[in-house]
Amino acid sequence: MKPHHLCALASLAAALAFAVPAAHASEAQDASAGAKLVKQHGCFTCHAMQGTKIGPGFADIAAKFAAQGEDKAEKVLETDVHDGVKGTAMPANASFSKAELDQIVDWILSLKK
Ligand code: HEC
Repeated sequence: MKPHHLCALASLAAALAFAVPAAHASEAQDASAGAKLVKQHGCFTCHAMQGTKIGPGFADIAAKFAAQGEDKAEKVLETDVHDGVKGTAMPANASFSKAELDQIVDWILSLKK
């Protein structure tokens, strides 16, 4: 291998090393934005962090969905928050953007570690 190829490999490795912590940082940022949205939108009227209030605790939701894998869990929970859960007290929140739904659900799922 010629020296300039090694050089390209080294910079690729450096780029990858930076990409990983950056992804984590943005998930953490999403989660803290999500926590704010949940506080602002009165979700705690019905949900505690743990244990059933009117709805299930957020940490309990995270635990229940942990086994389903992140992609599936995100899809189901975003739909639940956006559309509500018919026949229950869980109201629809149709005004949330996709980004806000992501943030809220990232926060909920971050409660299970
Ligand atoms: C008026 C009460 C009420 C409010 C306000 C409320 N929820 Fe709920 N929520 C419920 C109930 C009750 C359930 C359980 C529905 C069921 O039995 O499947 C639920 C279910 C959920 C679920 C699905 C849990 C699961 O296991 O599938 C999520 C996620 C959720 N709520 C998030 C939120 C968020 C985020 C907010 C604020 C934007 C919110 N809720 C506001 C009552 C409420």
